[in-house]
Amino acid sequence: MTQTDTISKPGRVAGEAAKRRTFAIISHPDAGKTTLTEKLLLYGGALHEAGSIRARKASRHAASDWMSIEKERGISVTSSVLRFEKDNIRYNLLDTPGHKDFSEDTLRTLVAADSGLMVIDVAKGVEEQTEKLFEVCRLRQVPVITFVNKCDRPGMEPLEVLSNVENKLGIEAIPASWPVGYGQKFQGIYDLIGKELHLYQKSEHGAKKADTVICSLEEGLEKSSLSDAEKEALREEIMLIEDMFSGMDPEGFKKGTVSPVFFGSALNNFGLDVFLNYFKELAPPPQAYSDDSGELHGLDEPFSGFIFKLQANMNPDHRDCAAFVRVTSGQFKRGLEVVHAGTGKKVRMSTPHTLMGDERHILEEAYPGDIVSLFNPGFFRIGSTLYSGSPVSFNVIPLFTPEHFMKVSTKDPFKRKQLREGLKQLSEEGVVHVFEVPNGVGNELLLGTVGVLQFEVVQHRMATEYGVELHMQPVSYNSARWLPSESEKIIEKLESSYSTHITRDMDENPIVLFDSAYALTQAEEKVGAENLFKYKQD
Ligand code: G4P
Repeated sequence: MTQTDTISKPGRVAGEAAKRRTFAIISHPDAGKTTLTEKLLLYGGALHEAGSIRARKASRHAASDWMSIEKERGISVTSSVLRFEKDNIRYNLLDTPGHKDFSEDTLRTLVAADSGLMVIDVAKGVEEQTEKLFEVCRLRQVPVITFVNKCDRPGMEPLEVLSNVENKLGIEAIPASWPVGYGQKFQGIYDLIGKELHLYQKSEHGAKKADTVICSLEEGLEKSSLSDAEKEALREEIMLIEDMFSGMDPEGFKKGTVSPVFFGSALNNFGLDVFLNYFKELAPPPQAYSDDSGELHGLDEPFSGFIFKLQANMNPDHRDCAAFVRVTSGQFKRGLEVVHAGTGKKVRMSTPHTLMGDERHILEEAYPGDIVSLFNPGFFRIGSTLYSGSPVSFNVIPLFTPEHFMKVSTKDPFKRKQLREGLKQLSEEGVVHVFEVPNGVGNELLLGTVGVLQFEVVQHRMATEYGVELHMQPVSYNSARWLPSESEKIIEKLESSYSTHITRDMDENPIVLFDSAYALTQAEEKVGAENLFKYKQD
């Protein structure tokens, strides 16, 4: 194949991109992400009968469990991509780990998504992990669509849920659908956009789509089992909210400051039809990305993409390392020769594949919005750009602030070199941040992670891949902030405080660690909060 075969035809790629919706679910563990994912596949036609994904999760062999540590724990540490097609639209669902010890990987996966689907439990509202994930959507100004799950269970009333979302996240929550009956009496959804009422019948274990009667509000109320008082209350609520959606600020939605809200029950398949009808319209297709110089890089330009995730040893027999690439422009074809922006090295992409659980499908072609997984020739890094036309580079993946810290060393003095080398490799893969211990002595290093489970991943991988048994000792820093690259003056000012510690990661990025929340507040006053970054993007 020659390079000209792969040059994109004007307009065609943008047309393909318009048919794609690349999104990630943001939720707190137990809100129903796995169940909803499965039901989206059911309603999207990718599964004929629901039950397998949850069953596999339960039997500790979820489709995306590659690493043995994941199998041992029955959780998914890494992210994979699920694809389904419905009504000529390809949905790429970036699966994010749902365990409470989620990692920076989860946050980085969001950078590859064009929209977020926020799933919240009707009884619990917005929970901690959802808030963290939402912050990344806010940072990137990505639209967020909300699905309020478990409406078949006792929980907040719908208006309370909207207030909860607004208060916790500081956004406007606009209802797009409304539950008919709450808790045990939950039996339908009023579609506030199409002005139709959907009444559902449960199928056994929710394995099949729910039988649905679609009718007008009054007809539906007539058929429902609500009491007269409940019917009247529902009419009143609907009158109050029915024009909110049509008045939704489209710019606010695009920037993630306004979120349309759907209600339902993933387990019972209630409300999924209404949600999917509008998700296609609401979730934006891939847009042109800005390159490093701030110029928009059009979708019809030759192939480009960025690496948002590296995953080593997915197959222990081959010790391979996969790089997950989000396509940003052009057509990707098997055999394409691409340039790695960081090193200028050329690589022929002969074995790309997309991942659906543990099955790897060889991918013949991909378009903006698609995720391709490639073998890492060794020099790919998180955030690397690949391209096939004129040089281009995207800087889209920020450094997220580590929240947990551990001092590490090895008892074996002969393994010190392997300790540094192994940790350097794992930090390049984005598994962990590695720092010099502030004012440290000896051969200790400081590890920083977003979720505590990462320490176990590091320990496991250092032992199995580098033969180094790590000795770990917790360090209780309260918080951390990245500093600007040229920060000598700021560092001078910060160094005068005893409860503030400055160090650098293996790429020489300076970071400041605080013993207490008070120390952070003091530092913000001293050097300005604008110089202390929660996310760093140079
Ligand atoms: P997660 O991936 O966000 O962690 O949540 P997951 O889908 O695993 O769901 C967590 C629990 O909530 C599961 O129950 C699941 O069946 C239940 N669930 C999900 N959606 C709904 C819903 O719409 N209504 C109700 N009532 N429950 C829902 P479990 O007891 O942990 O597991 P299982 O025994 O059902 O397998």
